[in-house]
Amino acid sequence: MSEVHTCPWWLAYTFDNPLRRLVHNPASMFGSYIHAGGWAADLGCGMGYFSLGLARLVGPRGMIYSLDLQEEMLQRLKRRAKRKHLSDRVMARQVRPDDLEARDLHDKLDLALAFWMVHEVADQAGLFKQVRYMLKPGGALFIAEPKFHVSASDFETSLVLAAESGLELTARPRVAFSRAAVFTKVLDYSI
Ligand SMILES: C[S@@+](CC[C@H](N)C(=O)[O-])C[C@H]1O[C@@H](n2cnc3c(N)ncnc32)[C@H](O)[C@@H]1O
Repeated sequence: MSEVHTCPWWLAYTFDNPLRRLVHNPASMFGSYIHAGGWAADLGCGMGYFSLGLARLVGPRGMIYSLDLQEEMLQRLKRRAKRKHLSDRVMARQVRPDDLEARDLHDKLDLALAFWMVHEVADQAGLFKQVRYMLKPGGALFIAEPKFHVSASDFETSLVLAAESGLELTARPRVAFSRAAVFTKVLDYSI
């Protein structure tokens, strides 16, 4: 797999802009995985385009945990959430490259979204283990990776690591400019 690098905050303006709604509509992409009152994490949320979309989907009784390495991204997300009156259900958290700081979220999430972030993570196996820990049984991990950065074979390698963490591949949705997959945390009846 090629060397990882972190998307700088200023570059996020190139894809996180009003035109994005035309190609990445949160309601049609995630509406079958999260409902009113649900809990989700937006992993590598950046400036929060999807955090805000998910916050609308879960409504006032739901909660979105927006996790990112970069304080600059989270500041912009918080400003946007405040402007849109969504601050009450968007919890921004600065995390470390190898630690999502999510020990309080065990078995809590209906959905974990990793949109255009997995290729920036050096320890993908570690990431998927933490996601499995956070998902409720039946909860979903939605992965989308940018076609212009991530080759088909690198994407398949990530999917193998997700499956090895104990998640089950359940869908291959079509997402503009992306390679995408959905994994589900299935109940382990063997215990
Ligand atoms: C290309 S941006 C995508 C942002 C957002 N998901 C979107 O689609 O608009 C990738 C983001 O992932 C974050 N990131 C990279 N590695 C991370 C990690 N290990 N944990 C949390 N966030 C990470 C970066 O700081 C950056 O904000």
